[in-house]
Amino acid sequence: MELKDTGEDIARVLYTKDDIDRRLALMGAQISRDYAGKDLLLVGVLKGAIMVMADLSRKISVPLKMDWMAVSSYGASTKSSGVVRILKDLNEDVKDKNVLIVEDILDSGLTLTWLKSNLEARGAASVRIAAMLRKPEAVKADIVPEYIGYDIPNEFVVGYGLDYAEHYRHLDFIGTLAPHVYGG
Ligand code: PRP
Repeated sequence: MELKDTGEDIARVLYTKDDIDRRLALMGAQISRDYAGKDLLLVGVLKGAIMVMADLSRKISVPLKMDWMAVSSYGASTKSSGVVRILKDLNEDVKDKNVLIVEDILDSGLTLTWLKSNLEARGAASVRIAAMLRKPEAVKADIVPEYIGYDIPNEFVVGYGLDYAEHYRHLDFIGTLAPHVYGG
């Protein structure tokens, strides 16, 4: 497998650009079937979801709109509380809309659990989730995405929107980060 633009920071490539493209095509086809005849609003969660949003949206064949939110947990020490702060809210009113949240990853699942109930409380007709990746830990949260790209092992992954200290988001593949980068 060819590595490019990675140096020694990537330990292992999990999914190549082609793998991701093929998986998204299947997810997009399923979403297109499920939302046929319905208005669809994709809600991307910044920043990690930018790549998935761009590529998945172009695999969907029903009319859709896009909007974005940016959220942050209240600091690492309180992350387990699941309380989330909105840094950038939606421009669209979601009342009576069919919302599909687009995310790069479910880790603990707390962000999406909060986000889903927040959008439901605003009166969305439906709120579903499409996540490119899910870690086993996410099973602990009471949330099951309707559309999942891949279940991955509990390792630090970067690329395709996912960062470490804001780096590596631009990589067109998903890989594990070499332990020397984060002091592991
Ligand atoms: C990541 C990811 C999810 C969240 C998942 O975002 O994009 O939003 O963490 O974690 P959880 O399942 O444990 O709640 P992050 O806060 O790193 O921000 P980013 O998208 O800007 O990278």
